[in-house]
Amino acid sequence: MGKIFAGKTTDIVPGKMIKVSIDGREILVTNIDGNFYATDDSCTHSGASLSEGKLDGCTITCGWHAAEFDCKSGKMTKFPVKIRDLTVYSTSVESDSVFVEM
Ligand code: FES
Repeated sequence: MGKIFAGKTTDIVPGKMIKVSIDGREILVTNIDGNFYATDDSCTHSGASLSEGKLDGCTITCGWHAAEFDCKSGKMTKFPVKIRDLTVYSTSVESDSVFVEM
């Protein structure tokens, strides 16, 4: 699919995460100290939108049952049972625009 515009850098401030809809897929874009990361937004446990959870450092905590994922690697880092990691996507910044590689 290629490089898809996800938002302006000013819309995704450091320490925040937003959900963007890209070609019918919900993608979570996070800004950690000015670096942008992208994963699927849907929790691999029961499908909650991770954008409605919390971001602490690089740890995304699902708002439904508290599964934790690393926003850089997509790895599940804390949950009582094994669940799939999140799919991660490359990001890039050009001027003031954030792009996600799909
Ligand atoms: S839906 Fe995310 S932990 Fe259950």
